[in-house]
Amino acid sequence: MGLIGFEQRMSKILYPEDAIRDRVAAMAQQITSDYAEKGLSADPESRPLLLVGVMRGALVFLTDLSRQMPIPVEYDLISVSSYGNGTAPGAVRLVKDLEEPLEGRDVLLVEDIIDTGYTIEYLRRSFAARKPASFRVCTLVDKVARREVETEIDYAGFALEQDEFIVGYGMDYAELYRNLPYIGVLKPEYIQ
Ligand code: PRP
Repeated sequence: MGLIGFEQRMSKILYPEDAIRDRVAAMAQQITSDYAEKGLSADPESRPLLLVGVMRGALVFLTDLSRQMPIPVEYDLISVSSYGNGTAPGAVRLVKDLEEPLEGRDVLLVEDIIDTGYTIEYLRRSFAARKPASFRVCTLVDKVARREVETEIDYAGFALEQDEFIVGYGMDYAELYRNLPYIGVLKPEYIQ
C-alpha cells in the first residue's frame, strides 16, 4: 500500500508538510544564531555542536533541522523505551547509549515529541552526570496536554493542546507512518 492510502487513515492533517518545513527552518535559524559566534557555546575546545537524536522518532526532524543549520554539527543517537504497564509510572529504560562522551561538549537534545516529559527528564539526569559544557532541549511537538512532570524545553516547534494521537514525520503507530511528510491525527479505527 502506498502513502496515498495512509492519508485516508487520518481524521485530519494537523501540520501539513509546508507548515513543518517553515517551522523547522525558523527553528534552525534560531538555534544557529544562538550557537554561532560562541553565543551559547561553552565547550572550552570549541568542538562542533553535538546534536543528540532520540531514536527512533526524532530521526526525520534531526536530519531536516540540521540540514538547515549552516554551522558545524555532529550527530549522536540514543534509544530509550518506556517500561510497560505494571511498572512505576515514568520508568524509562536505556536501549542504546551514545557513542560519544559528553564531557565538555555543547549538547542539543533533539526530540520529535515531548509528551508526559518522563523521557526527557530521564535523559536530562543521565546527561548531566556526563558533564556537558552546555545542554539544551529541542522538540518539534510539545504535547502540553499530556505533561506529567515539569520539564524545561528550549526550542519547541508546535505546542499541541489537545490530547490527539498523532503520527508522521518520524512518529509512528506500531512502527508505521514514520515516513509521512506531514503530521496527522490517526483515526481511532486504525488504533488497536
Ligand atoms: C516518543 C518520543 C519521545 C517519548 C516522549 O518515543 O520520541 O522519546 O515518546 O514521551 P514522554 O514525554 O511521555 O516520555 P517512543 O517511545 O514513541 O519511541 P520512538 O521514538 O521509537 O517512536
